[in-house]
Amino acid sequence: MSRQSNKLIIFDTTLRDGEQSPGASMSKDEKISIAKQLERMRVDVIEAGFAAASPGDFEAIRAISGIVKDSTICSLARANERDIARAAEALESAARKRIHTFLATSPLHMEMKLRMTPENVLEHAKCAVRFARQFTDDIEFSAEDASRSEVDFLCRVIEAVIEEGATTINFPDTVGYAVPELYGNMIKTLRERIPNSDKAIWSVHCHNDLGMAVANSLAGVMIGGARQVECTINGLGERAGNTALEEIVMAIKTRKDYFKLDVSIDTMQIVPASKLVSHITGFPVQPNKAIVGANAFAHASGIHQDGILKARETYEIMRAEDVGWTANKIVLGKLSGRNAFKQRLQELGITLENESDINAAFVRFKELADRKAEIFDEDIVALVSDEKQSQANEQYRFISLSQHSETGSKPVSNVVFSIAGTEVNCQGEGNGPVDATVNAIESKAQSGAELVLFSVNAITTGTQSQGEVTMRLSKAGRVVNGVGADPDIVVAAAKAYLSALNKLHSGVEKLNPQL
Ligand code: KIV
Ligand code: ZN
Repeated sequence: MSRQSNKLIIFDTTLRDGEQSPGASMSKDEKISIAKQLERMRVDVIEAGFAAASPGDFEAIRAISGIVKDSTICSLARANERDIARAAEALESAARKRIHTFLATSPLHMEMKLRMTPENVLEHAKCAVRFARQFTDDIEFSAEDASRSEVDFLCRVIEAVIEEGATTINFPDTVGYAVPELYGNMIKTLRERIPNSDKAIWSVHCHNDLGMAVANSLAGVMIGGARQVECTINGLGERAGNTALEEIVMAIKTRKDYFKLDVSIDTMQIVPASKLVSHITGFPVQPNKAIVGANAFAHASGIHQDGILKARETYEIMRAEDVGWTANKIVLGKLSGRNAFKQRLQELGITLENESDINAAFVRFKELADRKAEIFDEDIVALVSDEKQSQANEQYRFISLSQHSETGSKPVSNVVFSIAGTEVNCQGEGNGPVDATVNAIESKAQSGAELVLFSVNAITTGTQSQGEVTMRLSKAGRVVNGVGADPDIVVAAAKAYLSALNKLHSGVEKLNPQL
């Protein structure tokens, strides 16, 4: 595909760069659910992880390669034979596979991080691409920290890796330093100066440290002629995040008059993808976030302006329903049967392994329907993920809770949970009901972890809504997020805290590819 092509490739890296955000690490099952949703959304390339990071990452890429058939599956690999071979092995069963190898090219990174000379970097980059070509013809090369690299050196490296067979050249703004015009022009200059530049598709990959990731990516496309954008759902990613997929896609679609490009994304799947990623990672979406924030569409947030009632185009440039907002459809209730529940799971794209998993989820659904008259899609997503967590062989499991708080006295919480299958009862006091609950759990768990984030969100609207709580714990340099949902937010907090403790307990160490 050349510069002239009208197709813009959407490369999603939620499962790799997104997962590098502190606390966002996901289990294999969680990654599979997101990968399936990305496939449903018709993402062109899914970067499923960094195979050499840990056995868990490797297994997740392997599983996704066996399941997802409509998107190309990609693994990141540093520019060395071990990483590349590991990526190739994980991708073995993919219908379409890509190896994405990278090496830093900026003077700062080469000298301070890699401790390599530019000549060394050039040689390593060439060898890495040559080695990767043994496994697939679809090779992406990224010049890490490209936006702070010297143009003359980039010309040499990129020409050489294309010569070795790289088919996609990615131009990362690794630290979010770029500004749109300069970023776009840098890509344009390189494409003009490198003799074989038309043999590869050019790609943009931007971080949002100055809030310009989407603008920089679009400048890379319009000025530079890039035809692939690397992005994540909800803009998830290290520090301030990556380019947000939903913003790129809707900009290209809504301003087709200007961009004159096509994307293959099914936009109706955007909001479900956003909710799924937010729920799994415990990163809430800010209400005023473009496209997927609760206030992004006036009518989705219940504010009906006079102008919109007369003609919605007066204030709305996109339709909420086109990106998958469903206006909190009530889908099931107390009287709904197992078949209706099963069918709704299918419609939501949720696959449970076997009939006994469906039965267990249905029992939970009935329990929830007893406490909450209207069940929404969001409730079902939360319920299934809760059920999956409790089926996993976990160290800590919530059983029950009773709590008392009254104006003028200290709240007290009694929590029953299990540690390695043994039931424990505990009591705690605190300055609020959540504090009392966490103190109760800690009196037995004694994790020594520090709580660095606690957030509560309503899953749907109204006071009947389930509360979704995120607890982020930090211990010995590891950061994990736990998520819990329940109509009682204190119970949701207890579940979230125990889920975070489980993640700390699982002790999965993984390598950050860029450090
Ligand atoms: O930001 C970056 O440079 C990266 C590369 C590994 C592509 O994520
Ligand atoms: Zn990145």
